[in-house]
Amino acid sequence: MGTLTTGGLEGVVAGRTAICTAEAAGDTLFYRGFDVADLAAQASYEEVAYLLLYGELPNAAQLSDFRTRLAGQRELPPDLKTLLERLPAAAHPMDVLRTGVSVLGCLEPESEDVTALAERLLARLPAMLLYWHQFHTRGQRIDLGSPAADLTGHFLHLLHSRAAEEIYRRALEVSLILYAEHEFNASTFAARVITSTRADFYSAIAGAIGALRGPLHGGANEAAMALIASFGGADEAEHGILERLARKELIMGFGHRVYKRRDPRSPIIKQWARRLGEEARDTQHYAIAERIEAVMRREKRLFPNLDFYSALVYRACGIPASLFTPIFVIARSAGWAAHIIEQRQDNRLIRPLAEYVGPAARAYVPLAERP
Ligand code: ACO
Repeated sequence: MGTLTTGGLEGVVAGRTAICTAEAAGDTLFYRGFDVADLAAQASYEEVAYLLLYGELPNAAQLSDFRTRLAGQRELPPDLKTLLERLPAAAHPMDVLRTGVSVLGCLEPESEDVTALAERLLARLPAMLLYWHQFHTRGQRIDLGSPAADLTGHFLHLLHSRAAEEIYRRALEVSLILYAEHEFNASTFAARVITSTRADFYSAIAGAIGALRGPLHGGANEAAMALIASFGGADEAEHGILERLARKELIMGFGHRVYKRRDPRSPIIKQWARRLGEEARDTQHYAIAERIEAVMRREKRLFPNLDFYSALVYRACGIPASLFTPIFVIARSAGWAAHIIEQRQDNRLIRPLAEYVGPAARAYVPLAERP
């Protein structure tokens, strides 16, 4: 008989991985041994995705081939496009991505190398999201190609129908790097559980998207933007947050299961939020966000997680709030795929025990004899 764990499996080591380590002791995050701060300062998203999928940083020729392969696989199957057109305009984009991935699993059941599948999915997720979005908001069947050689530039080109300015492109790319991987978080663990049954790649990704959708996980970035935008100024935000805390409400974008003093990703994305705010001459939202951060630190000793200031970066990039969590999907798909590959390499069905707290064994009572 196993021992009872704390709620939410807090503090439980549930498996081994060579992909990533998020360390509570030092509040640090490493992807395959590289500090995420160094990657966010110097690497491209494609380098990071390659590192996660293949285990090493690419050399120049490998990176160039990788980019070319991704850029060459952006088109969607016609049946998927038809389905995206039929999904409701009011659907949440996370439901659209979950459904789109599931449909891909029907149209192209897994029959090839999983790394090749992962690359194709990575290339297609921005196309899937923005084909649906532009069809339902602009009534246009957009061309899924773009001159942008990189995934971030491609995303922004499909969204705005023009090339992105470099400062906005790089800010979004940094957020993708920071979101790309995070050890045994809820969605990744969901993907590994599904993979452990020997289910297919698409089922694991669809399950991971479902897990990411909730506001305690990826959905927090959309909720954080709604919170920041609900205040007209920093003083109003201070009052509003104090009222919410008095009502014992959760403030989205704060706290973390693993990190206890700071989320190492947050200062990086915060810098970009400030830069973009200055660039766009919108410092009001940043001032509101900083005040919320100060109140949360003072009142609850809580710190912003990656989701909080990412929301401001996305807003400055002209991205609608409903697409914030889907961007997390696009970024994290590299991490999910790496974990699916790793789980398959040394698989054993994930099936823990439960401590039973229900009634003791009792005799069945026939229907006619029940009071
Ligand atoms: N706002 C207000 N209070 C909070 C918050 C918050 N965001 N986060 C934690 N607390 C409080 C809890 O109410 C609890 O207080 P109590 O001891 O008085 O009951 C205490 O801090 C400990 O919190 P737990 O719920 O035990 O923390 P847990 O590890 O279970 O949850 C989680 C972590 C889910 C991230 C939590 O902090 C939360 O709900 N945050 C808001 C949602 C969010 O931002 N999610 C994004 C996560 S990061 C990511 O996906 C990139």
